[in-house]
Amino acid sequence: MFKSSWTYHEAPESTDHIQIKEQYELYINGAFTKPVEGKYFDTINPSNNQKIASIAEASKKDVDKAVKAAKKAFKGWAALSGKERGKYIFRIARLIQERAREFAVIESLDGGKPIRESRDIDIPLAANHFFYYAGWADKLAYAFPNRKVKPVGVAGQIIPWNFPLLMAAWKLAPALATGNTVVLKPAETTPLTALKLAEIIHDSGLPKGVVNIVTGAGATGAEIVNHPEVDKIAFTGSTGVGKYIQNAIAGTHKKVTLELGGKGANIIFEDAAIDQAVEGIINAIFFNQGHVCCAGSRLFVQESVANVVIQKLKDRMETLIVGDPLDKNTDIGAINSKKQLQTIENYIKIGLNEGGEIYQPNCNLPKKGNWCAPTLFLNVSQSHRIVQEEIFGPVLAIQTFRTIDEVIEKANNTPYGLSAGVWTQTGSKIFHLTQKLNAGVIWANTFNKFDATSPFGGYKESGFGREGGLHGLSSYVTFD
Ligand code: NAI
Ligand code: MG
Repeated sequence: MFKSSWTYHEAPESTDHIQIKEQYELYINGAFTKPVEGKYFDTINPSNNQKIASIAEASKKDVDKAVKAAKKAFKGWAALSGKERGKYIFRIARLIQERAREFAVIESLDGGKPIRESRDIDIPLAANHFFYYAGWADKLAYAFPNRKVKPVGVAGQIIPWNFPLLMAAWKLAPALATGNTVVLKPAETTPLTALKLAEIIHDSGLPKGVVNIVTGAGATGAEIVNHPEVDKIAFTGSTGVGKYIQNAIAGTHKKVTLELGGKGANIIFEDAAIDQAVEGIINAIFFNQGHVCCAGSRLFVQESVANVVIQKLKDRMETLIVGDPLDKNTDIGAINSKKQLQTIENYIKIGLNEGGEIYQPNCNLPKKGNWCAPTLFLNVSQSHRIVQEEIFGPVLAIQTFRTIDEVIEKANNTPYGLSAGVWTQTGSKIFHLTQKLNAGVIWANTFNKFDATSPFGGYKESGFGREGGLHGLSSYVTFD
């Protein structure tokens, strides 16, 4: 994911032929619709904090219109054969591929992630997700043998700002394949690719009301959660909002899946291929500015190799390029919002106050915009807040260990349970740790690899339910 340390000259990705409107409306019942109360908010480019476009803010009435449209469309959509539903989903996947460059540039402009990541990871994976679930649409009888499955109904889907188009794909594709209709809300700092997706969905000829996309902040999300005619909530975001949602729907008929925060352990054994492991550490924590729920934000290095690993890690960090998200050489882009930058800076202060030893490479951060240098903390222990709490930025807390049992105990000592990574040449050690680590996703000799066929989700305060793979279908169906 990260380029090797040599650099070559390439012009920044141009924004020619990228169509961004001045103002975006809500997508309700197959039409781009003005918000009832006429309110709009700005979406900002976090690399310079300039406004990109005005975005409609959906109120309770707009959400109600969207839910009613989804409910009305449900019968017809659910009654279509899986094969017919699949055709629409395949069409959406192909349209994303056709407009991949446009999606990649807009994703980087609106959210701050390096163009190399949007171009090579986010957008292709989003298309893959639609292709994958399109393939399941007419094979549900094989997915759930000997059981009669029905769609749940209207799914309310609320997504975060760290992988905007990809999270929209994770939510929409399985819901549509199983015959549900949807009201989806993108995050307020990154609405543009979801709105571009609305245009594609419109072009695909999907029956009106099957997918409705409403924009707004937390209040709009809460209207979706609390709407009595929504049958299922799928949420990805902070653990705090996840708890709010679980409370809000308690005692209702609504189904729910929550994909929340994490504090992933990345474990390096002395017999690991050290250079690959160092690349893996970089990718685990600095990919997408560390705005990754499954980031490897806690590093555990076996004591005998700690000095060499940390030195190599520091050397490698010196070569990372922080800057313009549209520059193809950029490794670390802009922090998604001023608010998130404040959160990260606050954690860096907390780390220092708790006695952590900080390391940041020399990098020239741009003057305008939201930026954070890649950061390591040494000299920390389990009780430190920067070891326990999700920072959601390019900040790594490093600890050492001697024995397998010690590292298993430390790795599991967290309120979260989303991801972990193990680096070793010994297969038996990998199997031992994958049994013992309390995490939904465990990578061996790699990190932050995603695939539509693979289930993803957490334990403990990282949430529940799985997205991706065959498992991802089950939360969108009920059984007779
Ligand atoms: P957030 O959880 O507030 O935002 C995620 C989505 O939830 C957005 O679409 C937002 O509009 C919506 N939302 C907010 N309040 C809501 C409510 N009461 N009801 C329904 N929807 C609501 O996350 P935020 O404040 O942007 O980030 C704070 C922290 O959350 C981050 O520092 C990070 O630690 C964590 N986070 C984790 C994510 C993950 O992928 N697991 C994604 C985003 C944030
Ligand atoms: Mg933005």
